Amino acid sequence: MPRRPADGYDPIAIVLHWLIALLILGLLVLGFVMTLQSIDPALQFSLFQWHKSFGMLALLLAAVRLVHSLTVVRVKPVKGLSALEHRSADAMHYLLMTLAGVVPVAGWMIASVSPLEIPTFAFDLVVIPHLPMPKSDAAEVWWTTVHAVLAYSMLALVLLHSGAALYHHYVRHDDVLTRMLGSRHRTAKTSIEEPGP
Ligand code: HEM
Repeated sequence: MPRRPADGYDPIAIVLHWLIALLILGLLVLGFVMTLQSIDPALQFSLFQWHKSFGMLALLLAAVRLVHSLTVVRVKPVKGLSALEHRSADAMHYLLMTLAGVVPVAGWMIASVSPLEIPTFAFDLVVIPHLPMPKSDAAEVWWTTVHAVLAYSMLALVLLHSGAALYHHYVRHDDVLTRMLGSRHRTAKTSIEEPGP
């Protein structure tokens, strides 16, 4: 489906971007806290259920964001960025989108392969079915490691991505950050150029 070219992000893309960002940061903190040794078991059970519920929501929103960005608009690059900067920004966006899908699926795998077979009650409303995988302690340890390594790698990338956005805003004074804020007040270097062939 041909995408409509646009100078900036539409409101749906902006809301999804910030909602997913908020969910990912919250899930990183929750994931860290709920796995502390010192935590009370009853509280830990409840935090695991919240983590799994918000994690599934993050997966759903990431899927919607992916479909939206592949079908609705094609955002033109901001003027003044070098070819290397375009390529690095694109690479970062692909990596973050991939991790936004893979990290929750790895979390879903932990719940699915665990011999404890603890159901996932999403927001106490519906039970999320487990993926059809053989259950074993070894598989649970493997997916827990994969989930943790990818989640903390995603944190490092999110920090890099946020640092780059702040650098563009405060040092380069371009529109990289403002157009994801939906701001109508563009900076002096406001024009947007057509992407190359
Ligand atoms: C973007 C989404 C997610 C992020 C950023 C995230 C992040 C994290 C983090 C940082 C931890 C702690 C890792 C550690 O220190 O050992 C964790 C643990 C865990 N997560 Fe997620 N998570 C996400 C989605 C999910 C989903 C969708 C599920 C399941 C449906 C899930 C299930 C779990 C479980 C069961 C653990 C505990 C593993 C253990 O026993 O140590 N996560 N997560």
